[in-house]
Amino acid sequence: MTCFLGIDLGTSAVKALIVDEAETVLATVSVPVPAPTHPMPLASEQEPDSWWTAVSTALGQLAADHAPAMARVRGLGLSGQMHGLSLLDAEDRPVRPAMLWNDGRAEAEAEALQAEGFDLARILGVPAMAGLTAPKLMWLKRHEPEALDRARHLLLPKDVIRLHLTGERVTDVSDAAGTWLLDQAARRWSDRAIDALGIDRALLPPIVESPVPTGTLRPEIARCFGFSPGVVVAGGAGDTLAGGLGIGVVENGRAFVALGTSGQVFVATDSYRPAPEYAVHSFCHCLPGRWSAMAALLNGASALSVMGRVAGTDDIPTLLTEVEAGFRRPSPLLFLPYLTGERSPHNDPWARGVLFGLTSDSTRAQMIQAVLEGVAFSLADGVEALTAAGVAVGEAGFIGGGARSRLWARIIAAATGLTLNRFDGGAHGAAFGAARLGRMATGAAFRAETPAIVETIAPEAGLRDAYLPRLDAYRSLYRALKPEFRRGKATA
Ligand code: XUL
Repeated sequence: MTCFLGIDLGTSAVKALIVDEAETVLATVSVPVPAPTHPMPLASEQEPDSWWTAVSTALGQLAADHAPAMARVRGLGLSGQMHGLSLLDAEDRPVRPAMLWNDGRAEAEAEALQAEGFDLARILGVPAMAGLTAPKLMWLKRHEPEALDRARHLLLPKDVIRLHLTGERVTDVSDAAGTWLLDQAARRWSDRAIDALGIDRALLPPIVESPVPTGTLRPEIARCFGFSPGVVVAGGAGDTLAGGLGIGVVENGRAFVALGTSGQVFVATDSYRPAPEYAVHSFCHCLPGRWSAMAALLNGASALSVMGRVAGTDDIPTLLTEVEAGFRRPSPLLFLPYLTGERSPHNDPWARGVLFGLTSDSTRAQMIQAVLEGVAFSLADGVEALTAAGVAVGEAGFIGGGARSRLWARIIAAATGLTLNRFDGGAHGAAFGAARLGRMATGAAFRAETPAIVETIAPEAGLRDAYLPRLDAYRSLYRALKPEFRRGKATA
């Protein structure tokens, strides 16, 4: 029996799984990654070494508990948090901590690039945004030139793991898509962007299509974790794209909504359709000849954990039960979930979280319900941006940690108008997609079936009618506060 391994390097955890030829999941493991640090306003960093520590712990656990399956692995796929800037020196050591996807400090650089109009954005798939890789590189040029001087290689987070596993410095098209340096239509680095930004081309790794083999596991890695010799490592993918492949969202028009630390409304497309005017991300998909359109939210289920902590508990299931018990109509409170700024549709690193409408009668359940609704409204903004960009969404898979809540699914369906499908085991989407890429890298047949749907949640008419005026209020609250968020910049 042949097996395949998928590894997803998330922001809060590494998830890895082993599947067999029939795609039965034989083993899963999840190892926490140390939380990002925030050394200055808007910054969000992790140590690349901590990623490798978490991945090697995950592989060690699989080796200890599932040795026969590990020995049968023939192909391995990597997926990971996108947009991260990790710079390595001539000895392949990090020159500084990695700047993550939710690091907004390059806002001035992004704004200067936006001021030049949408010409480059139309090639690169998205307007310049603070969290994307290239604007952060511009920030370093200005603020830490000595770090950039020592840098010899730029790698995306999952590609740092590949370097440890295989010794190869390579990336794939779907992860390169989030750098603001990829020509999305041609699926290669954009000479125009590299020249316009004055970036040293030698920093950038070669790019392959996601299912293509990029090398084999180093013999010492194979020995250490009980792999057989010659395990092939696929190009891999950015986490949202791997998540899409994991639930079979590859055909034109198929869609999913993901609620992990971040959130996405994602639609697969059969051609490249840039729509930078709407802050939509039009990225290469992780299958050759396919693309995607995505509304990317910086604050997904993480908003619920943060507000749970503010309310004095990390027991999210109990909080959800508390809300469900009294759930009849929209909360009287409104919540803007922009705790770390927002990308789609506002492209506003200075936006912040807001709880609006408090009275002396307000309760914890109303507050938490408002959090669920605020994230749902921000997904509704994402759906609206995609629709305006000409990418229709009607029915969507619902994946990520947030998808475990049926209540949240009902609220999101009502607020967005989408019909949501909840899957059996939908929570390990990206690692599963990565395993599919690992499988393809061995030459085995392509698989992109959708997992079994356990429940379909359509918008409930009464709830939708009740939410539409609240969605309007939510939108005008952001519009009213936008100048205040800007003013907050001066006092940050
Ligand atoms: C996508 C995005 C997130 C990160 C972190 O644009 O920023 O999905 O990849 O998971």
